Amino acid sequence: MHVTHLSLADFRSYARVEVPLDPGVTAFVGANGQGKTNLVEAVGYLATLGSHRVSSDAPLVRMGAERAVIRAAVTQGERSQLVELELNPGRANRARINRSSQVRPRDVLGIVRTVLFAPEDLALVKGDPGERRRFLDELVTARSPRMAGVRSDYERVLKQRNTLLKSAAMARRHGGRSLDLSTLDVWDQHLAGVGAELLAQRLDLIAVLQPLADKAYGDVAPGGGPVTLDYRSSVGAEAGPARTREELYAQIVEALAAVRKQEIERGVTLVGPHRDDLVLGLRSMPAKGYASHGESWSYALALRLASYELLRGEGNEPVLVLDDVFAELDARRRERLAELVAPAEQVLVTAAVDDDVPGALVGTRYAVTAGEVERV
Ligand SMILES: Nc1ncnc2c1ncn2[C@@H]1O[C@H](COP(=O)(O)OP(=O)(O)O)[C@@H](O)[C@H]1O
Ligand SMILES: [Mg+2]
Repeated sequence: MHVTHLSLADFRSYARVEVPLDPGVTAFVGANGQGKTNLVEAVGYLATLGSHRVSSDAPLVRMGAERAVIRAAVTQGERSQLVELELNPGRANRARINRSSQVRPRDVLGIVRTVLFAPEDLALVKGDPGERRRFLDELVTARSPRMAGVRSDYERVLKQRNTLLKSAAMARRHGGRSLDLSTLDVWDQHLAGVGAELLAQRLDLIAVLQPLADKAYGDVAPGGGPVTLDYRSSVGAEAGPARTREELYAQIVEALAAVRKQEIERGVTLVGPHRDDLVLGLRSMPAKGYASHGESWSYALALRLASYELLRGEGNEPVLVLDDVFAELDARRRERLAELVAPAEQVLVTAAVDDDVPGALVGTRYAVTAGEVERV
């Protein structure tokens, strides 16, 4: 798929902007702070309902404005669609497809798909487990948009269960009424139900991503691998032999039972997919803490390239977005990456100067200056 037109109103620094887009490579070039990332961030938002830079919507709305609108015309094969999202911080966001009446924002997922490379990606390798869980869950959702519902159900159940545990912990400390354990049993089952679904999808994803990540690492840094992806589960679930949802459900219920006492003491859910990690191995060592800066970068690139290959292979060719990444790479990695992404259906690149866009990426150029986006 590719985006043929992007239109923003009161998004970030843009009061209004219209950007026609072609398939192939488009580079947005301009000095720092001119609004390049803001453009591709909007495209990414349509694909994930989130920003790769901030966790809440408020900063996405132009200072002083009440709401932001992101609109994109999208072509997939013969089919064209118009998607529109209205961001209302503090209130529900709204969405429309083909100017029809409103749909839920999550119903637009799957129309725009992106794989976004950004300087922030280094945190995939060096950062906290939460970064890697988000990576997995976004990819799980890109493969199967209905997982957005499962993810939000999990968050909701977890929050409610934590509230229950917290009040139990408080009551315990102050000698109040003790927790009705049958209520907790019910929440355990809810958590295990949605948790098993999320876990199954993550494990399936890792199994198919592993060989692609290994190959991509070899492409970016020849001879530098191998890389391994190991899921570290707080409930003892392992990737590999396919687990049924029933088995995973039973594992979560069992793990919850084993930590129940501590949970009631501490007032928080101690096991489940929200406590898991993806261990990125490089030559039999964890990349985090062991890999060099350059290797960590190669690893982050490999994970994104593998994501791209996976989605493409499953018939969902995503838009590749490369936000300011070439400036971070040495000449060799830069050329390699450029060669690898050049054949994609659509590539959106941002760079501070022309020289940061590798020669292999010829295409349309836009100059971005103080919120003006002009074709050059
Ligand atoms: N909500 C907002 N309202 C107004 N301006 C914003 C908002 N969010 C970010 N900006 C401005 O956008 C600019 C950053 O744009 P960005 O796209 O990140 O720049 P770059 O071209 O370096 O990628 C900054 O000058 C910042 O002040
Ligand atoms: Mg930027």
